[in-house]
Amino acid sequence: MRLVFVGAPGVGKGTQAKRLEQEFGWNVVSTGDLLRTAIAQQTSLGQQAQAYIQRGELVPDLLVNDLVAERISQMESFILDGYPRNVAQAETLEALIDGTLDAVVLFDLDEELLVERLSGRRVCPSCGAVFHVKANPSQRGEQCDRCGARLITRNDDQPETIRNRMRVFREQTEPLVAFYEAKGLLRRVCANGTPEEVFLRLLSAIGQNGTEK
Ligand code: AP5
Repeated sequence: MRLVFVGAPGVGKGTQAKRLEQEFGWNVVSTGDLLRTAIAQQTSLGQQAQAYIQRGELVPDLLVNDLVAERISQMESFILDGYPRNVAQAETLEALIDGTLDAVVLFDLDEELLVERLSGRRVCPSCGAVFHVKANPSQRGEQCDRCGARLITRNDDQPETIRNRMRVFREQTEPLVAFYEAKGLLRRVCANGTPEEVFLRLLSAIGQNGTEK
């Protein structure tokens, strides 16, 4: 299965992508995670991307396109979480995989709830686990359930950066809805409710109910 996940910041794309990966063994390629790793390791890509991410803007297409192309070239199945993010990236992807996408999932949620999800998010800088102070707290409080590292708030989850990310989503990413709708690939999933409820809707939207590892 080859899927693209589109949705506003904090809608739950990463949470649902990881869930699908556990269930079906499909590879998740998250450009946000790849870029954050590059920043943590201070690679040349990380150094170039850092300021854009801190401001809540898109990292230049050339850098992100290369990153994705390198990752998915040998993959049969994948979930692209957060890529493409504008029409130019979508056209690059189309050329790269020769139009073999199965579906593009658009997650929908009210802006008020998005802000609540982002402001309550805590992440583990060591193993990448994602928590939420109310909806999905770590059983060990400020420490990661999985590895014990101290949880942090992402740099770009500060109020001003969140506002900028929302604006960038509306201006640059939302045009993808019409782009993929015209190709008959778009599947809308309401992201309100518990992660489990959203997951069941997602399975139905992509026509899956069995387990395939
Ligand atoms: P990226 O990391 O992709 O950020 P994003 O798209 O803004 O999405 P998020 O990771 O913030 O949210 P999510 O939808 O995955 O939600 P999550 O599951 O964590 O990108 C970061 C930056 O990198 C961009 O701003 C840009 O600068 C750059 N970048 C990335 N891709 C790029 C590209 N293609 N081109 C150029 N630049 C790019 O959930 C959020 C919270 O809610 C968590 O706490 C979670 O536990 C909780 N939660 C999840 N589901 C539920 C639920 N159903 N109910 C209650 N809580 C829930």
